[in-house]
Amino acid sequence: MKIAVVFDTPARGWEDADFKQEIAAEVYEPEYDVADALMENGHDVFLIGFHDNLRRMLDRLEEFEPELVFNCTESFMGRARYDYGVAALLEMKGYRYTGSSPEALLLARDKATSKKILSYHGVRVPRFQVYDSDRIEPPSGIAFPLIVKPMHEDASVGISQASVVTDLDGLGERVAFIHRALNQPAIAEELIEGRELYLGMIGNHKVQLLPTIEITFDRIEEPSLRIATYSAKWDLDYRQRWGIKNIFARRLGAEARKEMERAAHIAFHALGLRDYARIDFRLTRDQKVYLLEANPNPFIAFGEDMANAAERSGLDYYDFIERIVSEALKRYEAA
Ligand SMILES: Nc1ncnc2c1ncn2[C@@H]1O[C@H](COP(=O)(O)OP(=O)(O)O)[C@@H](O)[C@H]1O
Ligand SMILES: [Mg+2]
Repeated sequence: MKIAVVFDTPARGWEDADFKQEIAAEVYEPEYDVADALMENGHDVFLIGFHDNLRRMLDRLEEFEPELVFNCTESFMGRARYDYGVAALLEMKGYRYTGSSPEALLLARDKATSKKILSYHGVRVPRFQVYDSDRIEPPSGIAFPLIVKPMHEDASVGISQASVVTDLDGLGERVAFIHRALNQPAIAEELIEGRELYLGMIGNHKVQLLPTIEITFDRIEEPSLRIATYSAKWDLDYRQRWGIKNIFARRLGAEARKEMERAAHIAFHALGLRDYARIDFRLTRDQKVYLLEANPNPFIAFGEDMANAAERSGLDYYDFIERIVSEALKRYEAA
């Protein structure tokens, strides 16, 4: 099958690169893993990278005439909140593409609206307050400690241990920081202490749950600081220093597991997610399950959480990527 892999590049000037050569040279970009698996699976693959030039991306798609676009877009010009726009272009141009719709990408990225919808559907989420100006009213109905985050980012951009605040002054400072540094509203959520668990999902009408991943913070003594900050996710030295690991989940009580699975299915459908997703939870000491966040189009590079979980359920990386392709195709055929 003719499959175009569409993805954002970190800088201008990569649009004309011969990505196949870079794959052979083992230059690392997660999209190359996907493209490599598709090629191994026998597809005719064309890599289309873009930074700011969407016209060229569309031209290249038109030339190649793919039967499916594998949408690996994570941002536009480095801005994660514009990933929906690329899906919207694919949608408007009538391409079949993998992963969630523009609407779902936009909705899931909005950390306030998505929680309101989940709450309506009976899923427990942290209570929160949104601040779009530096003039801080005391939060109503939620107690410190709070965690202050940017409204529309992902990958823990803007999240560090300083995001956890214990009083009004701290809240004010961190809110102002988010406004200044990231130019968007801040959301302050009640801090849910507990285990952090990720549930991968593949499918549409029928959704398969992958084995649960847990992120452990064994060497961080203070429970309120056991959070997946930017450094905790991406800085290997930092992870080593603090004993931060992503592992298959330690033992989970049957009730908690059942509640996580129920909440994951509700979130998948309520937010209109498609093909694959990862739902993130916190489980408190007294076994309360909180849904922290739903991630459409999560990270699917080789050796990362989703791929590892798929592998444990019997899908090696090639099968896993092919499964996403077949879920997308089935969805279009059913429509
Ligand atoms: N309400 C919360 N209570 C406890 N920890 C939280 C809360 N919100 C976020 N965190 C921590 O911060 C991490 C990143 O937050 P998240 O909302 O998922 O942002 P992103 O979209 O950048 O991944 C979470 O994985 C978790 O460790
Ligand atoms: Mg997250």
